[in-house]
Amino acid sequence: MTALFTSFKLKDVTLRNRIAVPPMCQYSAVDGLTNDWHLAHYTSIARGGAGLVIVEATAVSADGRISPGCAGLWNEQQAEGMARIAAAIKAAGAAPGIQIAHAGRKASANRPWEGDDHIAAGDPRGWQTIAPSAIAYGANLPQVPRAMTLDDIARVKADFVAAARRAREAGFEWLELHFAHGYLAQSFFSAHSNQRSDQYGGSFAGRSRFLLETLAAVREVWPENLPLTARFGVIEYDGRDEQTLAESIELTRAFRQGGLDLLNVSVGFTIAETNIPWGPAFLAPVAERVRREAGLPVASSWGIDAPLLANRVVADQQMDLVMIGRAHLANPHYAYHAAKELKLERPSWVLPAPYAHWLERYRAQE
Ligand SMILES: Cc1cc2nc3c(=O)[nH]c(=O)nc-3n(C[C@H](O)[C@H](O)[C@H](O)COP(=O)(O)O)c2cc1C
Repeated sequence: MTALFTSFKLKDVTLRNRIAVPPMCQYSAVDGLTNDWHLAHYTSIARGGAGLVIVEATAVSADGRISPGCAGLWNEQQAEGMARIAAAIKAAGAAPGIQIAHAGRKASANRPWEGDDHIAAGDPRGWQTIAPSAIAYGANLPQVPRAMTLDDIARVKADFVAAARRAREAGFEWLELHFAHGYLAQSFFSAHSNQRSDQYGGSFAGRSRFLLETLAAVREVWPENLPLTARFGVIEYDGRDEQTLAESIELTRAFRQGGLDLLNVSVGFTIAETNIPWGPAFLAPVAERVRREAGLPVASSWGIDAPLLANRVVADQQMDLVMIGRAHLANPHYAYHAAKELKLERPSWVLPAPYAHWLERYRAQE
């Protein structure tokens, strides 16, 4: 049995295999509206054989976008565009997922290929960022955010709820809350960026409150029978990793009790000065520990694209799903090629029938 190509059932959604495409920003939207590029991109990746395709970080409000090119889900017109994308992913045989996000102090940035830095002060394309505390990220993102009031916190939670409802109405079957990568939710959890003295800061419980309340609020509107997941940076690689990981695992247990169905394990990216041990599947042992100690299914990514490695992390029960990002940008038919490399008896059958039949029929001649 090739573990990577076994199906995976979570709630009422069954994935055709364990290959998932993680959210990857396209920075190609205008006013949060997706367009033909997004449709072409997501359709081609979905038809390539992955079990799950998660649409890029989609902002719950205009000020929650990383850049002016980020997708949004704060109005009905945006939801209509997303409905076309969800339908195309599903037609191609993958489960349609979406990540909803607020970028916090990392918002108001230029596109990566145009600098990856904050839009200059005074430039009308930019906006005032918000965060738990008025602490800048530093280096390339120097804008000092405005510390959020309790009204701001209530507003952003309500925006998450509204975006989740629109995502469901648009036909998505898998929701991922973006609690990672130094964006708003992650920056509430990290003491590097949260120095509040009210109920949303300080202790472990205080720093966890925004995340748990957002989950609870979304849980009320997202259907019980569909997967509700989150991406969360469980470790920073800042020299305090054991303590951070212990807290992250405790929070993941609380997520599970709050109705989360799976955690996409990632890195915090809350500070620039870190010692990340980049390398193939470097996060897999961390994901495995979260899975075992928190008792929740997990997915993870970062350099797991070699098919033998992807298969092994599933076979060894380090993770339930493997998130394959950049390899899908280079090759939308990653899943098919992985199936061939793993010598599946009928590798073509990871593809939709209109492709699989013909590839299988002439396979003997390959
Ligand atoms: C172009 C690009 C855009 C990304 N956008 C997002 C995003 O919207 N949300 C997110 O959580 N991660 C994002 N990431 C991180 C990816 O989801 C993934 O974790 C990362 O690429 C590592 O996996 P890989 O080694 O398989 O590429 C992005 C990565 C890339 C390359």
